[in-house]
Amino acid sequence: MNILIRNGRVVRPESVAVGDIWIAGEQIRAVEKKIDPHGDIRFDQVIDAEGMYVLPGIIDAHTHYLLHSRGTVTADGFYSGSVAGAIGGVTTAIDFADQEGDKSLLGAAQARIDASRREMAIDFGLHQCIFSMHENMDRQLRDLKAAGVTAVKIFTTYKREGYFIGESGLRELFRSCGRLGMMITAHCEDDPIMEEIAREYEGGPHPPRLHPVLRPAEAEYRAVRMLGELAGETDTPLYIVHLSSGRGLEAVDELRVQGVQLAVETTPHYLMLTNDLLAGPEAQKYIMTPPLREAEDNEALWQGLMHEKIQLIATDHCAFTLEQKLQSDDCRTVLPGIPGTGELLPLIYTAGVASGRFEIGRMVSLLSETPAQLFGLYPRKGRLQAGSDADLVLFDPGRSWTIRNDNCRSAAGYTPYDGFQAAGMPVLTMLRGRVIARDGEFFGSRGGGTFVQAGSSELFHD
Ligand code: URP
Ligand code: ZN
Ligand code: ZN
Repeated sequence: MNILIRNGRVVRPESVAVGDIWIAGEQIRAVEKKIDPHGDIRFDQVIDAEGMYVLPGIIDAHTHYLLHSRGTVTADGFYSGSVAGAIGGVTTAIDFADQEGDKSLLGAAQARIDASRREMAIDFGLHQCIFSMHENMDRQLRDLKAAGVTAVKIFTTYKREGYFIGESGLRELFRSCGRLGMMITAHCEDDPIMEEIAREYEGGPHPPRLHPVLRPAEAEYRAVRMLGELAGETDTPLYIVHLSSGRGLEAVDELRVQGVQLAVETTPHYLMLTNDLLAGPEAQKYIMTPPLREAEDNEALWQGLMHEKIQLIATDHCAFTLEQKLQSDDCRTVLPGIPGTGELLPLIYTAGVASGRFEIGRMVSLLSETPAQLFGLYPRKGRLQAGSDADLVLFDPGRSWTIRNDNCRSAAGYTPYDGFQAAGMPVLTMLRGRVIARDGEFFGSRGGGTFVQAGSSELFHD
């Protein structure tokens, strides 16, 4: 099957150029200024992209589809989460496998990959969570890497949920990952400081607005510093997930001055929402960890993106229904997490590009090329060039629309961005040469996504 996309504004981090893209089967064959639709190649389909941006498929590098946690499961499974993503221009999601007591790391990852394969509508990669150290961790990590899972995830908090990886063993994990060229990704909130604060508030009420008091930006600062020091000492690069605060970014700055190699992710909610929402109606809808911060934190993170201190934006999509969210009004037990994968592209286009904060090439770097490079998927994913997978989005900058609870496809049934005026719309999503979404409708298939084996992160290349 040969497809020609004509006259689009083809976006790469370094350039925007009107051109044509020839897709042969699942891959891009050529990107050129002009390709004759009536020349030697017989095209089965010609798509007119006049006036549209042609973007590489979005890589949402942080999603929790089908997360079993706290005695329940997220509203979005692999299928509904990935369909929501597809409609919004996401062609690859990177999800997480829990460490399971009775299984090897490879066994846990393989089980998650098999389950995803049956359901995912877009391509996917995997990070393996590590909650505690095993005796033969080195060998297990090696096996994991050979299977194409080259990043692990650790948490410096969530003791009660069993995710917390204590300090003992961490050094060994850092050393192993450094040696093997595997990336450590980390949820950074310092548990001791949060326990101390929790004791002060024991006995009193814990409404949603207390959440950021119990989990302050200072906790993020301390955890980033602690793990960053370890990364420096063991000469192992570190990836900070969902950075939420200006104070957290200060820790990143300080570590970089010391020569520590860090990559940093933030999310649309830490850029665009504030903790004022936690004092309003249905405040539970806005609870996630780390919590929403202040307007100054939003601004510090935008500045971090503009000055290339933050390398990528992902969603931390972790969708619960309103019914699930409203089951508790105690901020310690409200199910943490919000939906967002389908809104990632229009939100960042609107608030980042249309508002003049950065160029569209920078957006492509933040949402596609850099996640592909950092997570070892490049150049198969992340760039519009010959030889890469034909994953792309036609984005119409002339179509403004309002994000509403009822036009978001997540099974959460609500969006924290309800009422947001978006300045442009993803109108067509193609996954490996097949149109999987058009004008808000899904045309792909359950199980149409494939597992993409990761190589080493670019952070490990000199
Ligand atoms: O509240 C959140 N972020 N839930 C998802 C799990 C995590 O901490 O990333
Ligand atoms: Zn997290
Ligand atoms: Zn997460």
